[in-house]
Parts: sequence; structure tokens; C-alpha cells
Amino acid sequence: MNQIKVFSPATVSNVACGFDILGFPIDSIGDEMIVRKTKKKSLVISNVTGYSVPLDIDKNVSTIAVKKMIEQLKPDCGFDFNIKKNIIPGSGIGSSGSSASASVYAINKLLGSPLSEIEMVTYAMKGEVASSITEHADNVAPALMGGLVMVKSISPLEILKLPTPKDLYCFVINPKIEVKTSYSREILPKEVKLKSATKQVSTFGSFVHSLHTEDYELLGRSLNDYLIEKHRKKLIPLFDQIKGIALNNGALGCSISGSGPSVFALTKGIEKANEINLLVSDLYKTSGYDFSTYVSKISENGVRTLSI
Ligand code: HSE
Repeated sequence: MNQIKVFSPATVSNVACGFDILGFPIDSIGDEMIVRKTKKKSLVISNVTGYSVPLDIDKNVSTIAVKKMIEQLKPDCGFDFNIKKNIIPGSGIGSSGSSASASVYAINKLLGSPLSEIEMVTYAMKGEVASSITEHADNVAPALMGGLVMVKSISPLEILKLPTPKDLYCFVINPKIEVKTSYSREILPKEVKLKSATKQVSTFGSFVHSLHTEDYELLGRSLNDYLIEKHRKKLIPLFDQIKGIALNNGALGCSISGSGPSVFALTKGIEKANEINLLVSDLYKTSGYDFSTYVSKISENGVRTLSI
């Protein structure tokens, strides 16, 4: 195999109650990448289409992510990347995570799959450092593994796959403004109140329980965030109105996707997600902000091969 074309999904991370430790893929948007083996042992980004990302291999998350991997696997070739960047950087739906996962997955395939899923996550996380300064796996783990995942620990890396109730759907609005993850992390307090931490832990625990018991009502009561949302929501135009519309129209919960500015809502069934999509789109159309929306099942699929 000398060439591979892959699709790597966007992801919703944090999922309200699990800052830095919860995430899932959304199937309706993702980056595409063609990776080709080259004789010369180097990394080259020969083409980028879609949203603009650096061609410099020291600045592009896709190549940053694979550098360490190549150092360790020592392949007898180099690689050329042709990137179709469909996810706008700084969108809060795992733009860098998608690109980093795509390149790690593609090279692993081209080399005959020497790495396990968890090893791929370890390398893909290196790409995340470029955009958010700290390592976090709540975008790359769901992008590579599919489904609702929980990052139990970063060091050593331990990822748990959680069950996804079958009628769980997601609505996402991506206002087209850039919020840098590094900035969105910088504005967070370094310490939290014990009371808030206790509430968050109980909410997170009941969320996980609701997945195992397929209890949508409990799931809805568990999609709360006592630590992060209040500090970041000011970065998102009309956040309170979006959340109000979602919750008044049957959403189980609604919060910031990743580090923003995207906002997600979870629903039982696709009809409610479509309804919320129409209403929130109407709100945004009159606001003057450019935006995109997505409706997706909580996808069990992570990054995948489109052609070889
Ligand atoms: N968990 C990370 C954060 C996700 O919220 O900063 C960044 O996409």
C-alpha cells in the first residue's frame, strides 16, 4: 500500500459534565487526507484545500502528531500529505484533533498497522499540544476510537469506551468565529470550589450511569457543567439564547462543545435535533453571524479509510 485516503470525524468534547475527559465523534463533518509514501525520508505537506492551515511541517498539527511516531517506527520512506481541511480551526469541534488523528491513522495503515488504538491516541495527542499547549485526549480518542469515550488517565494513558444509548442524537452549531483553545483554557480559573467539584463529580457519575442503563431522563439531568461553562460562555455569541431554545424544545442538555465557540445539544431521537436545528438557525440568521449546523447520531465510527 503506497497511498491511503482517510476521513477523520469532528468531535464534541467535554460533553458538559466531563471537562477534558469525555468526547464523541459527529459523523456529518470531518477532515479528509490523502497520505502517500515517498522515497525521500521526509514529511511534506504538498497541498491544503478548504480552511487554511500551515504547510510548514513544524506548525501543522497533522505532521507534528506523526513526528515522534516516525522517529520511533523508523520507516524506510517519507510521507506526503494532501489535506482537505473541512473543519474550521478554533471551532470547538475538534479541528486539530481530527487532523492529528487522520495523519496518525493513515501512516499506521501505510506501515501495516504496527500500532494499537491506544498507541495511536498517544501520538495524536502530540498534535493537540500545538493548539492547546496542554495534552488532552478528549478529541483524539473519540476521533480514533469512535463512540462515547472517557479518558480515565493521560499518564499512563487509559481510555474507557462507554455505551451509547441507541436513540441519542446531537445538534451542533458552529458560529464562524475563531476561539483559540489556548485562550479558552487560559481564562479558566486554576482552582475550583469544593462544592462545585462535588456537584460535578456527582453529575459525571450519574451521566455514566445513565449511559449504562439507557436512562434518557437521568442523562438529561446529568448534562450540567458547574466548572467551565460560566467562564467560557462569554466567548460565544447568543449562548444563553441557544441553550434556552434547546432546553425549551426537548433537548436533554446543551453546553459548549470543546473549548467553543460551537455549542451542542443532545436529544432523544433525530426529530428533536432537527427541530432545534431549525429554531437555532433562525436565531442565528437574524444575528448576522456566519454559522454552520450539524445533526448527527452519536457516531460509533472513528477515523476510517475511504480508499487505498
Ligand atoms: N477539553 C478541551 C478544552 C477540548 O475544553 O479545552 C479542546 O478542544
